[in-house]
Amino acid sequence: MNLLSSCELADIRREMEANQQKLVLTNGVFDLLHVGHVRYLQEARKLGDALVVAINDDESVTELKGPGRPINSAEDRAELLLALSCVDYVVIFAGKRASDTIETIVPHIYTKGGDYTKESLIDEERKLLEKLGVEIEILSLVAGKSTTATLQAMTAGEGSEAERKQRLAILGSGAGSNADAIMQAIADGELTNVEVGVVISDREDAGILERAKAHDVPTLWIPPGTDKGGVLTDAALKELTDRMKALDIDLVVLAGYMRIVRGVLLDSFAGRMINIHPSLLPAYPGLHPIKRALASGEKETGCTIHRVDAGIDTGEILAQVSVPIQPDDTEESLTLRVHQAEHKLYPRVIQELVDSASASPS
Ligand code: GRF
Repeated sequence: MNLLSSCELADIRREMEANQQKLVLTNGVFDLLHVGHVRYLQEARKLGDALVVAINDDESVTELKGPGRPINSAEDRAELLLALSCVDYVVIFAGKRASDTIETIVPHIYTKGGDYTKESLIDEERKLLEKLGVEIEILSLVAGKSTTATLQAMTAGEGSEAERKQRLAILGSGAGSNADAIMQAIADGELTNVEVGVVISDREDAGILERAKAHDVPTLWIPPGTDKGGVLTDAALKELTDRMKALDIDLVVLAGYMRIVRGVLLDSFAGRMINIHPSLLPAYPGLHPIKRALASGEKETGCTIHRVDAGIDTGEILAQVSVPIQPDDTEESLTLRVHQAEHKLYPRVIQELVDSASASPS
């Protein structure tokens, strides 16, 4: 039986070291084994003298890939992998990252499949590998042989595109009242032909993640990769993009997401990402728009939904609602009314976008 614990594999690694042999480790979900995996694992095995595949446990797969995943249980995935002649050992790990497993085993070589680069490996993993002196090898993936492509081939012909619900990802850093309004509108049947595939935050303690859990919507915490406010590192942008692509997201909805969207993330979802901003854009883009409108003595403010482009709150305006400013308004009272307007506007605009996406030929 070659389904082992990390500690057993650490012993094997020590023995191999003594015999001047090299242990290779790779990690992943592997819940629908296909020829792309097999070829990748064969290449990985050639890098050393034995290959260990670390697989996510069932709970962390659901967290990473969304509801309905894993397709096969961890035990079944381990059995399938061990049936391949290129796989010597399998270890099952809990949590989204394999860091603890890597730290216990300290393989000679760590390898990852090819849409990754050394720079885009999760910072935490890369720093650890460098600290442990583990060699990093990136192998190219087999074009067109991915789990996503396999799943698409399996479901092709199952119902027309018009019957498929549009999948949203909602990204936020704060309380999540807009996300809640959207999820509630779906639950109430007011917003139709749409589902929320995932709610993502850059902050582990953000209320938006709790709101999602209350609606049984999968959540992801994707750290920004830096302490600098507003910034996302290239690795974080790549992880956000990869996760949303894996979840087959059609529309990205920013709701109080306090990070600048750019690079691969913006390119991958060009025209399919929207944001809500609490002002009548182009007035008061950026931070504290409600406070600034009030301080300027405006008679009205409001909220705007716009497509996201490379600027800050500059993309094409899709809808706006005005909120009159009362003489006795405080920042709090005005914020409350702007939020109420937002909560009605966001589901309405999403419905319009979803309806036009379903109507247009794909
Ligand atoms: C909203 O006012 C939205 O317009 C702005 O951030 C706030 C998010 O609030 N972009 P919440 O997290 O949805 O409660």
